[in-house]
Amino acid sequence: MSDTASTLILFGATGDLAARMLLPSLYGLNCDGLLPADLRIIGTARTAQEDAAFRAHAHDAVRDHVPETIFDEARVATFLERIHYVTLDATDTAGFHRLAHVVGDTSGGVAIFLSTAPSLFKATIDGLAAAGLTGPEVRLALEKPLGSDLASSRAINDAVAGAFSEAQTFRIDHYLGKETVQNLLALRFANVMFEPLWTNATVDHVQITVSETIGLEGRGDYYDGAGALRDMVQNHMLQLLALVAMEPPASFDATAVRDEKVKVLRSLRPVTAADAAQRVVIGQYGAGAVGSIPVPAYADELGKPSTTETFVALQAFVDNWRWAGVPFYLRTGKRLPDRRTEIVIQFKCVPHSMFHTRGATTSPNRLTIAIQPDENIELSLMAKVPGLDRGGVKLREVSLAIGRDDAFSDTRRRIAYERLLLDLVEGEPTLFVRRDEVEAQWQWIDGVRAAWTAAGMVPKPYASGNWGPSAAIALAERNGVSWND
Ligand code: BG6
Repeated sequence: MSDTASTLILFGATGDLAARMLLPSLYGLNCDGLLPADLRIIGTARTAQEDAAFRAHAHDAVRDHVPETIFDEARVATFLERIHYVTLDATDTAGFHRLAHVVGDTSGGVAIFLSTAPSLFKATIDGLAAAGLTGPEVRLALEKPLGSDLASSRAINDAVAGAFSEAQTFRIDHYLGKETVQNLLALRFANVMFEPLWTNATVDHVQITVSETIGLEGRGDYYDGAGALRDMVQNHMLQLLALVAMEPPASFDATAVRDEKVKVLRSLRPVTAADAAQRVVIGQYGAGAVGSIPVPAYADELGKPSTTETFVALQAFVDNWRWAGVPFYLRTGKRLPDRRTEIVIQFKCVPHSMFHTRGATTSPNRLTIAIQPDENIELSLMAKVPGLDRGGVKLREVSLAIGRDDAFSDTRRRIAYERLLLDLVEGEPTLFVRRDEVEAQWQWIDGVRAAWTAAGMVPKPYASGNWGPSAAIALAERNGVSWND
């Protein structure tokens, strides 16, 4: 099998993810000459249509979702030449045979991207197997949600493992495709100055925030069954935590990196019924205003009352030598004041400040890694305010900042899926999630849910446009921490 695939099959090709992310990403890669010259892209979905109609759909998706600066009709036309379409209903094997016929010889390598409802995974894998599309030259990428708890995730993983080896299985967490998330590895492991400080001796606590301003976006059926913990913490936020906390891998390859991440995930201290109320806050948005635009309450948007959490804040601990006693505060929610993903490493105070004899106070250093919408890294340092100090020394926090747009203005911002699709086509698994990681994530998350249920917790209301229920502020403050708002 050649490592690079010559056929990419998109299941769910008429869906929202394909229109917003996958087709625009493939177009971007094509513009940059990064797709293999012979790569064919075959879309499949239930909608009965010919190649031409799907190409028109792909054209519109690209036009609507790529930046104007890279949209170009001639380049879209070249891109569309790669695209084909096969009508396929996952519950009907005839479609898979038609697909196998269009794919033809698989020895050039086939990459399959499943972005369909998980309820169709099993039928799809059976259909692929029946049509001979599961051989060693085929690899399969799976989009979330991969289950709703450990048991259902195992069932999906078992069904996949019946037809594809782990090395052929590429589980997607699109946060791993984000440039600044990968840059976290460079920051930690390509610089000498952070690693010695990256321990419980100098780090006071870590904050990870993923805040969103959007509400349900028409995804009520899925979201109401999931909630913020399963939708965001189980995958994206635990991956961020693992990248922050992991030991330096011996090499930048799939086994070394994923071995280190899984050790962190397995070291997460369980939340118990006894400490759930101290360590977890859940909330649900009510009516309010986000960016001065009035928005309805979650239950009104959903059209029925619900006990699903749209906000969660929690205190996690990585119980190992490096991180003993260092809290990791995680919070995420919908309808918060702004869209922001960031990691804050809050260092401890200097052990002794010689400046107090001159009336000056020092603030502890802080490293902020902004992932989106801004991509930058900012280190706050203490500096002396210029002057002759007759009234006492004055110190002030100043920041050393590396903004992506300044430092790398000659590079284009890419969609996270560009990286992941290219890695999939080329068979590079490092930025995909291994089975043991997903299962360790679910194990911890199931424990959190079980603990809050046993403790009788229900989501506390918060008005849209606020940083969650006030209990989330109290969760941090009773430990002497302020959220970085
Ligand atoms: C998805 C969640 O995985 O991530 C969504 O299902 C969420 O609810 C989205 O909105 C956030 O992704 P991003 O890249 O916009 O931060």
